[in-house]
Amino acid sequence: MEKIIIKGGKELSGEVVISGAKNAVLPIMAATLLCPGKFSISNVPDLKDTRTMMKLLDIVGSETSFKNNSLDIDSSNVNNPEAPYDLVKTMRASFYVLGPLISRFGRVQVSLPGGCAWGPRPVDYHLKGLEKLGAKLDLKNGNILAVADELIGADIHFEFPSVGATGNLAMAAVCAKGTTRLYNCAKEPEITQLCEFLIKMGANIEGVGTDMLTIIGVADLHPANIRIIPDRVEAGTFLMAGALNGTIKVNNVIPGHLKRVTNKLKDTGCTLQIDKDSISISSPSSIKSVDMTTAVYPGFPTDLQAQWVALMSLSESSSIVTDTVYHDRFSHIPELSRLGANIKVDKNTAFIRGVKQLVGAPVMSTDIRASASLIIAALAASGKTEISRVYHIDRGYEKIEKKFLGLGAEIIRQS
Ligand code: EPZ
Repeated sequence: MEKIIIKGGKELSGEVVISGAKNAVLPIMAATLLCPGKFSISNVPDLKDTRTMMKLLDIVGSETSFKNNSLDIDSSNVNNPEAPYDLVKTMRASFYVLGPLISRFGRVQVSLPGGCAWGPRPVDYHLKGLEKLGAKLDLKNGNILAVADELIGADIHFEFPSVGATGNLAMAAVCAKGTTRLYNCAKEPEITQLCEFLIKMGANIEGVGTDMLTIIGVADLHPANIRIIPDRVEAGTFLMAGALNGTIKVNNVIPGHLKRVTNKLKDTGCTLQIDKDSISISSPSSIKSVDMTTAVYPGFPTDLQAQWVALMSLSESSSIVTDTVYHDRFSHIPELSRLGANIKVDKNTAFIRGVKQLVGAPVMSTDIRASASLIIAALAASGKTEISRVYHIDRGYEKIEKKFLGLGAEIIRQS
């Protein structure tokens, strides 16, 4: 089992290049199943999750190859619309193949994704939406079997603007007969880029970037190429590490995707320099305590909630963090407490009392973003921290210890 070992307290300085966005490339990889042909996707991060999605595409019949952050996919011979449990259970985003496969083959079998580290993550919006489009669904031995002789456009209203359901149903609808309208849909930049990719493939989508997508079905699609947008969550993670100790610059970012985050960081007293595709941050002598509530885009992303809690655990006084997207995404808090953080959780709210110092200790990763919050805390703590189960962090961060090493951190990976 690999560990990441950090000797905290080192001043961070220098520059880091942000990788392509995991949550943009995963649905785009699934979208290549919509039609036969050769696709090339650049600025793809080398992650466990992108490798898992490549495996899944290979299982259904695609040919994928990855080199120097470029991914070539040939979906000409896709012939097996089945996504097996042992893959889907390791990565919930495997569920993204549902829409493309039922669109292309009229049938698909996908294992129901289980829960994840922080609790149930249902897919009822995905399934109800597919039924609205005319699919017949069956649940057999943990697999969803969906069949549709023809998908017919429909109006679909989301109770909650689900990122995954928006992506899945947009992909199911692009070749449906007639018009589909997705109301109260997600408008995260990653979904916007998925829609841009679908349009490059010949889809007819209006309202991209808004909370209502109108998808006019087309007869056929063709392959396309795309360069993945920078990962705003990775960028926010590095900015919060910089906020605690040092002056760093993150390159290859789209500052507009991080507005709420950079505004919050300014409220803590950090100095930020925001340019066209980079953001520099300098830590203040002490971090002001700032309350934060997550929200769907353009709100403060839930994927940066754990990292924000780590930052607030070393702030001047008290702060309150509420997650309105997931009500139980706090598995990082017991681990942060082992480093000396003073945090109480009540339902979907964390009450944080800033402490003067965190002290290194052995801690355990539980999910991608919880791991990131432990790294941020460990870098600022005094002494040594050992973080186990680092496979969680490798799912969503490319070469994270190399990137922090480049910023002057004392960090190594021990097999
Ligand atoms: C995507 O997950 C991201 N993953 C998550 O990032 C991110 O936390 C989440 O969106 C919210 O922004 C990918 O893009 C691969 P949702 P997704 O459907 O699509 C409820 C990371 O760390 N819901 O927007 O699964 C759900 O329970 C990962 O990179 C239903 O009730 O999230 C949650 O409370 C973690 N029924 C809320 O909606 C459904 O059918 C938002 O979930 C679907 C969702």
